[in-house]
Amino acid sequence: MRVGFVQNKPIFGNVLENLEGVEALLKGHSADLFVLPELFATGYQFKDFEESRSLAEQVPGGVTTSALTAIAKKIDAYIIAGLPEIDENKVYNSAVVTGPNGYIGKYRKIHLFDTEKACFQKGDLPLQLFDIAGAKVGVMICFDWRFPETARTLALRGADLIAHPSNLVLAHCPQAMITRCLENRVFAVTADRVGIEDRMESLNFIGQSQVVDPDGNILIRASKTEEEVHVVEIDLEKAREKFLTSKNHIFKDRREDFYC
Ligand code: ACM
Repeated sequence: MRVGFVQNKPIFGNVLENLEGVEALLKGHSADLFVLPELFATGYQFKDFEESRSLAEQVPGGVTTSALTAIAKKIDAYIIAGLPEIDENKVYNSAVVTGPNGYIGKYRKIHLFDTEKACFQKGDLPLQLFDIAGAKVGVMICFDWRFPETARTLALRGADLIAHPSNLVLAHCPQAMITRCLENRVFAVTADRVGIEDRMESLNFIGQSQVVDPDGNILIRASKTEEEVHVVEIDLEKAREKFLTSKNHIFKDRREDFYC
């Protein structure tokens, strides 16, 4: 399977321009799955609920989902990407899953970071897997990384790969995702953005989008500052081997009777 990410630098509020930017970045690249950042077409730093609602879209049905589905058809790839979603007046920090044959599903971020709590509702959909090009793919969004239960739940449900749209402002995530991959023996594609947003406070997005394998190897990591697209070949069988030694199975050795 060939998986990749787009690391972009959106301009806050310029959805159409940012969508065009991503389409231009993707030119000449091919993969089975591309992961795009959290809120990749709107920008990140909403001031309040009114503002996030003003840029939120229906999933499916909105401009961003439709544009991504058109791109997915054109380049014959699946795409997982973050966007603000409106549903009956509630706004979620969501990710859409779409592909060459159309819309597939969505995930709503369950662990909201800092000021996001004033702009979004907490996610209310289960952590589920999507069938993508022969892989079981789970989705989590940015700050979900800080709660190991998120990746663990996806892995226990059978994820081969975790798609992780992000807008990283905390320095530890790229390294922490190595641990998430090791402790669950899964692949992870973290797609981050770059640039600074200075709306309420100055936020510097740290880039370093990456693909990590179940042994904790960084297969590719992008720069901290540039827009980039990268694709790597992965062997899903690696994620399906849960024995660490002939006597240690990463899930069956868990001592649930000792955990809370
Ligand atoms: C984040 O969750 N976007 C930091």
